[in-house]
Amino acid sequence: MLSNNKSAVFILAAGRSSRFNSSTSKIFHDLCGQPVVNYVLDVARFFAYDYNSIISVISKDSPEIADTVCVRQKDALGTGDAFRSALFRLLGQQGSLCTGPVTIDAEQRALANNASSSLFIEKKRTSSEMALVLYGDAPLITTESIQLLFEAKKKNPEAAIVILAMYPENPSGYGRIKEKNGKVTEIVECKNASSEEKLIPLCNSGILLIDINVAEKLCPLLKKNDLSGEYYLTDIVRLATDNSYSVISVEAPANELCGINTRAELSHAHDILQKRFREKALQRCATLYGKDTIFLSYDTVVERDVTIHSNVCIGPGVHIHEGAEILPFSYICNATIGEHCSIGPFALISGNTVLHNRSTAGSFVEIKRSSVGPRSKVKHLSYIGDSCIGSNVNIGAGVVTANYDGHSKHKTVIGNNAFIGCNSSLIAPIEVGETSIIGAGSVITKNVPSKSLSLSRPEQKVVPLKTSSKHLSRKK
Ligand code: UD1
Ligand code: MG
Repeated sequence: MLSNNKSAVFILAAGRSSRFNSSTSKIFHDLCGQPVVNYVLDVARFFAYDYNSIISVISKDSPEIADTVCVRQKDALGTGDAFRSALFRLLGQQGSLCTGPVTIDAEQRALANNASSSLFIEKKRTSSEMALVLYGDAPLITTESIQLLFEAKKKNPEAAIVILAMYPENPSGYGRIKEKNGKVTEIVECKNASSEEKLIPLCNSGILLIDINVAEKLCPLLKKNDLSGEYYLTDIVRLATDNSYSVISVEAPANELCGINTRAELSHAHDILQKRFREKALQRCATLYGKDTIFLSYDTVVERDVTIHSNVCIGPGVHIHEGAEILPFSYICNATIGEHCSIGPFALISGNTVLHNRSTAGSFVEIKRSSVGPRSKVKHLSYIGDSCIGSNVNIGAGVVTANYDGHSKHKTVIGNNAFIGCNSSLIAPIEVGETSIIGAGSVITKNVPSKSLSLSRPEQKVVPLKTSSKHLSRKK
């Protein structure tokens, strides 16, 4: 669905993450291959005019969020303070705000990112320009649900605030939405709610659309909550109704709106995303056997007729082409798997490895930072690192490319149609020419010319045993 609903987008991504109890903010924790906040950023990009109108609020010691105007919140004083500081930081001394497609030069961007200054942009606001507020800890949100906010606003142009609401199975922890005559009158935070209010099933997702003029007027009126010492953005609802502004809510599926405050919620979000990714793979006509044990990443591309067996984990950066088969207990990340390749069982493929069409990486095989040519086979118990393997090559069981000398990594190049005997070590840097053969058990330290046989194996000695030998008598 294409959107013509564009606005300034605020991502609230600061705060203490105290319930998460981690040295890394919950916003930057990994979720299926990328930081939690990146999912929110994708949605923000969809609705923002351009990246100058994505404003992220981050903590004072947090890394910046790329492609957004970052505003640092001085102290973690709550969502109300976070939104207010971003709004007023971007509000120029003369009251104009970056809400449209304007160009900010590097100097202005630096100013915006500096806590002690404000960004001044000369752009006049239209009378009812809206801001979309997203919470950085709510990564399951979809563009479809945000469209519901814009549609509700279109149907109710008088609404100053539209809130995305939900009926979660377990409402504990969420703000409860109080309504009267189809209008929202108040949001009560869970920790402030009476036992009666806690029975209200309609909950606040945090995500909302707000008229910027109204926000500008009401934000300074937000008061510190006595219980938590924080400014709640949700208090803006009561302020709005007190000042005769209309506030409405629109419902979206709860499994898109859950926030991540604890490890259990991170784990829950992971489960929901995995279901979505598996569904997407099935829709692309891949076969997933034991799908609940197959884990994919946010960017996994699985083509038609791919078969993935149970207990397979796909990390970020993987494209599996048509007809490939991934056997159980394999892990693949940052790799391209060509058409009709076979991987595993128990294979590990990583480091921008490319397996070309119809090649095989079999059981207990690790391939890293390498390319394997069409129809080549690495079938059993091998380590292939920093290697470039041609087509129709056979790598015998137990072959190791010794790519690391303790200081640097070195390359192994194996030409087309070469045959590397079992249990050989190729000491890199090394080249094995086309159509050459390495005898089993060899340790190869010098380049091997094309069409040659190389062997480096101690000669076998045969020593006859005495008939009284213990070993022989036991055998009898
Ligand atoms: C918030 C809502 C609650 C809603 C829930 C949905 C408020 C007061 N409460 O509660 O009604 O049901 O989300 O998940 O808004 N943040 C800052 N600066 C701060 C504090 C927080 O930027 O000082 C950011 C956080 O990074 C987070 C978001 O704001 O992404 C929400 O903050 P959080 O503390 O998680 O609020 P909740 O208690 O979940
Ligand atoms: Mg939260």
